[in-house]
Formats: sequence, C-alpha cells, structure tokens
Amino acid sequence: MTAKDDIGKIQERESKFWDRQIDSFAKDEKDLMVNEYNLNVLESFVFERLGDLKDKKVLDCGCGSGVLSTVLAKRGATVFSFDISHESINMTKKRAEANGVGNLVTPQVMSFEDLIYKDQYFDFAVGYFVLHHIDIDKGARELNRVLKKGGRAIFLENSSNNPFLTIARKFLTGRFGIPKHGSEDETPLSCKKIRQIGEVFSGDKKIYYKNFFFFRLIDEFIFKEKIKMITKLLKILDEVCYRVLPMLRKFGYLQIVEFNK
Ligand SMILES: C[S@@+](CC[C@H](N)C(=O)[O-])C[C@H]1O[C@@H](n2cnc3c(N)ncnc32)[C@H](O)[C@@H]1O
Repeated sequence: MTAKDDIGKIQERESKFWDRQIDSFAKDEKDLMVNEYNLNVLESFVFERLGDLKDKKVLDCGCGSGVLSTVLAKRGATVFSFDISHESINMTKKRAEANGVGNLVTPQVMSFEDLIYKDQYFDFAVGYFVLHHIDIDKGARELNRVLKKGGRAIFLENSSNNPFLTIARKFLTGRFGIPKHGSEDETPLSCKKIRQIGEVFSGDKKIYYKNFFFFRLIDEFIFKEKIKMITKLLKILDEVCYRVLPMLRKFGYLQIVEFNK
C-alpha cells in the first residue's frame, strides 16, 4: 500500500467515525444556538490573536458541528469551513442558518490534505482539535498555500507532552470502564509535528499554554464528574498548578499553536 492509499484510508475512517459522532452534538434546535461571547479562556485567547474580524476571510479547518464557524461569522468574518465528514458539514450549515449567519458561512466537504481554495485567499485559518487528525506534511503545505502573505493560522489542540497522559491513553482508555473518545487514527499533537508545520511557514511560530488541564481529566474519566467536591477540588488543583508552577504548564492537555506567513 502506498502512502497516498494510507492517507485515503485514514480519511475514510475519520469521515465515517465523525459522521456517527455528530448526531450527539445537537439533539434539538436550541442546541444549535451559539453565543459568540460565551468563550472559555483558550477560545478567548484565539479570538484575541485574530483581532478585528470584520470583512476578513477566515478558514475554519475541520469545522465539526460548526460552533467555531458560527462564532466567527457572528463576529463579522466571511467564513469558509471544511470537514472530511458529510454529516459535520450538514450540521455546520444548519447551525449557521439557525443563528442567522447562513449567508456568511460556506461549509464544504473537503480534506485538509487537498484544499480546493485559491492560493493566498485567506486572512486567517483557525481550527479546534483538527491538526492531530491529519497528515501533517500535506496539511501544512496546503495551509501555507491558501493563506495570504502576512496571514495567521491558529489552532487549539491537545498535546502529547505529558507522559502520564500518553500512558493512560495507551493502557487505560477503553478499559476498566474508562471511556475512549477519540478516533482510531488520531494521536495527540507532538512538538515534532508542530516543528514540521513551522518549517513550512516563513513568519513567527508560537506555542501558548493558557491553562493547566490535567487533574480535571481524572475527574472526567474516572469520577465522571459525579462528586461535586472532587470536581471542585481537582479544578482548583489545576488552577493552582498553572499559577504557582509555570514550568508545569507545557504538560497540560491543551495548547494553542500559531503560525504566521
Ligand atoms: C475532534 S473533531 C473537532 C471538530 C471541531 N473543530 C470542534 O472543535 O468541535 C475533529 C474534526 O476533524 C475532522 N477531520 C479529521 N480528519 C480530517 C481531514 N483529513 N480533513 C478534514 N477534516 C478532518 C473530523 O471529521 C472532525 O470533524
């Protein structure tokens, strides 16, 4: 099997997996509604790095159920969204329309590795939890190609920096009643892959650690957020680690990566 076949097979599996997942994301009309100012710390930071979006052309990479596309459009951007999963694209259309921004969002089924957009078309590219699903070499080249000179790409992603999480993912999830959420082919985003993307971009590259998301995973996966006291305690522990032990920040579960052209 050639590498090209491998990518094709992975894309097929991803598409099927996310087609199945999407149903659970918005069960009725009210779940489609999005408040563009109700963002968490990491999302707020991404929007800070994007600045004024009025009349900007923005690409939402791996748009999933269309929450980010809708927020971008509600904040004034002209949004193009793509995803490998047909059902995700249907949901993105539905969500954008329900929120009154259907005219500003153009969702299309497409793979990150073969974008159909023109060269230097976008001011910004954004994505949440998508880089760790794709072929990095091909995806990085496509991303760089479709961004304007001076454009910025920014992604909120998971991270492979924490060896405890790597071990837990390998040996615990999917066993002992601990749920496994991800698809078969995804692997958390490593520093090596971030460097690989950075090599394609001529401008600044940055990694930001804006929170320490670690003990909360124990609550989510083991205690299933059923005991309020524990939920509160583990959240506080994460916050204390973030503030008091900055050297630990890079071992949190989440990171934001930025590439400038
Ligand atoms: C973890 S989900 C994130 C979805 C959305 N960004 C969000 O945060 O809700 C990953 C998304 O990437 C999409 N995806 C996976 N591989 C892809 C590829 N090669 N090209 C385009 N989209 C892909 C999946 O279909 C899925 O919607």
